[in-house]
Amino acid sequence: MGAYEAVFRRSIDDPEGFWAEAARGIDWYRKWDLVLDSSNPPFYRWFRGGELNTCYNAVDRHVEQGRGDQTAIIHDSPVTDTIRKITYRELRDQVAVFAGALRGQGVEKGDTVIIYMPMIPEAAVAMLACARLGAVHSVVFGGFASNELAIRIDHARPKAIIIASGAIEGKKTLAYKPLVDSAIDQSDHKPEKCIVFQRDFIASELKEGRDVNWSDIVADAGPVDPVPVQATDPLYILYTSGTTGMPKGVMRDNGGHAVALKWSMTNIYNVEPGDVYWAASDVGWVVGHSYIVYGPLLHGCTTVFYEGKPIGTPDAGAFWRVISQHKVKVLFTAPTAFRAIKKEDPDGEFLKKYDLGDFQALFLAGERLDPDTYHWASDLLRVPVIDHWWQTETAWAIVANPMGIEQFPVKPGSPTKPVPGYDVRILDHEGKEVEAGQEGNIVVRLPLPPGTLATLWRNEERFVKSYMATFPGYYETSDGGYIDEDGYVYVMGRMDDVINIAGHRLSTGAMEEVIATHPAVAECAVFGTVDQLKGQKPIGLIVLKAGVTTDEEEIKTDLVRMIREQIGPIACYRETAVVKRLPKTRSGKILRGTLRAIAAGKEYRMPSTIDDPTVLEEITEDLKKLGYPA
Ligand code: COA
Ligand code: AMP
Repeated sequence: MGAYEAVFRRSIDDPEGFWAEAARGIDWYRKWDLVLDSSNPPFYRWFRGGELNTCYNAVDRHVEQGRGDQTAIIHDSPVTDTIRKITYRELRDQVAVFAGALRGQGVEKGDTVIIYMPMIPEAAVAMLACARLGAVHSVVFGGFASNELAIRIDHARPKAIIIASGAIEGKKTLAYKPLVDSAIDQSDHKPEKCIVFQRDFIASELKEGRDVNWSDIVADAGPVDPVPVQATDPLYILYTSGTTGMPKGVMRDNGGHAVALKWSMTNIYNVEPGDVYWAASDVGWVVGHSYIVYGPLLHGCTTVFYEGKPIGTPDAGAFWRVISQHKVKVLFTAPTAFRAIKKEDPDGEFLKKYDLGDFQALFLAGERLDPDTYHWASDLLRVPVIDHWWQTETAWAIVANPMGIEQFPVKPGSPTKPVPGYDVRILDHEGKEVEAGQEGNIVVRLPLPPGTLATLWRNEERFVKSYMATFPGYYETSDGGYIDEDGYVYVMGRMDDVINIAGHRLSTGAMEEVIATHPAVAECAVFGTVDQLKGQKPIGLIVLKAGVTTDEEEIKTDLVRMIREQIGPIACYRETAVVKRLPKTRSGKILRGTLRAIAAGKEYRMPSTIDDPTVLEEITEDLKKLGYPA
């Protein structure tokens, strides 16, 4: 039996023994009473009765164990032309004082706090300060518009909101404060305080009584100690796109999360404390939570906060420059970033300028890694290129080549095998397991390992309905795929109306909700089509109300603007086709799967439930006019 097989089998046969052992990597104030509380399925809770503090584990203990002078965070910001390094000691001091400042603003254990910040170390300071106090943070990605922020404010009901005055996105300077003011105006819940970190290049005006400057409250504050919390207490809420306009608030606990992330740093990424680890993503996404902030810091690594893009800041050599300058051992990013670099510099000329001697592996996730991109990256970099599959819900990889345990030969198109802790199966629509090679729903047998979502914030019913109800006893990933004869998992794409644009997860349902509010639109369908750079992009089909005489181009421009304003520019919504009818089932459900197949030029079976098959010929013609299939 290979190393992986033994570790994997133990994780499934004796999950309690397995994870109790992994929990030794974390410092506890009080040991748990139960490793796994299975008394209320499908709500499984890890390390019930244990007490810890995630911030202490990510920061203070490294100082106490002699890493005080090691760099904890490198802020590499080509957009502001600065590089700043913060040691673990400095980070501890900053976090302890900012936690004191937060407490001074009335934030206590159990309160929620929204963080809306770009890729600056203060975002990590804010997250860790919440964790230090036992407050629950919810970071919102800066590319979301004020309406999306308002939805999250109303759901999370934060006591305070912590923001930066602005960001530089590529070459654009963005002011965050007007957007935040507008979100608070729109929301029913009003945060008591808005704490503003003023950046040099853009100042925010403060609203008397509610808004305070980060620097002012820090100047008046003293350090506070970490507050012990239950392992099962929430650490954060992270909203992610579901199939409707209301995002899902994934709730992450403290204990299981710390144990799983620490374990993953050794066993999946194969890095040691002291190594430089770089996840080129954004703190607003789960990759940012797990592998820019918590994972590397829990493990005592140096983490890179990169405020730039793979191209254009200043060129397609940006990633190689960062790897070489900071001696990065592992880079984790989305395949889109590599497709962008490949497009600008297909022969990898920029790479020749840099020494990548310390670089050990490239990890990619967030979307399917197409074999072309895999081969290009692998031939160019000559280090292992590791695809791994996971979701906001899980916080860490479900399927991955576990570099710290055993390295499997790669089969391009597959992230290889299930990670220990995840009992991955493929089920057909009736819930029966299918044979090797046959496609179906990818599910994970319960219980899920530590670190995965405990529930949905203030919505247990939706948690059960979205993930646990379709296949009782299993977690439904909503991805489709298959497992081959050798146990390699292939993830082929979402089975629901969630799409993946440049590694960003977006809901076509949310876009439809916006489009449906246009006065000229009778009904609409949004679905994802293939995009060479970003993996997928949305396209909207609209049916106009009878008697509408408005110019069609004007309506299309309106829709682009409305989606930018109400969801955000990251939705990348640009294409609309006006059609006479939408294909529907006899019960009125839009056949999005069939639309996707037509746009992709794939063979499809005429749905037996279709109301009127002739509509498909019309739609095929309409899509042809837009250039689909490409
Ligand atoms: N704040 C505000 N706006 C943002 C934003 C942020 N944090 N991030 C992106 N946007 C805006 C962009 O400015 C752009 O606006 P525009 O339509 O006015 O130009 C829009 O959202 C789309 O952004 P993006 O998808 O990033 O496209 P791009 O053309 O600017 O860049 C890539 C293309 C490939 C370079 C970029 O998508 C990328 O770096 N991808 C890597 C993927 C990644 O890190 N994924 C994270 C999950 S692991
Ligand atoms: P998010 O929650 O934003 O991380 O998006 C999760 C979704 O992205 C998954 O459900 C998949 O559809 C897709 N995804 C993430 N990683 C991969 C991967 N390595 N291969 C294929 N799809 C992926």
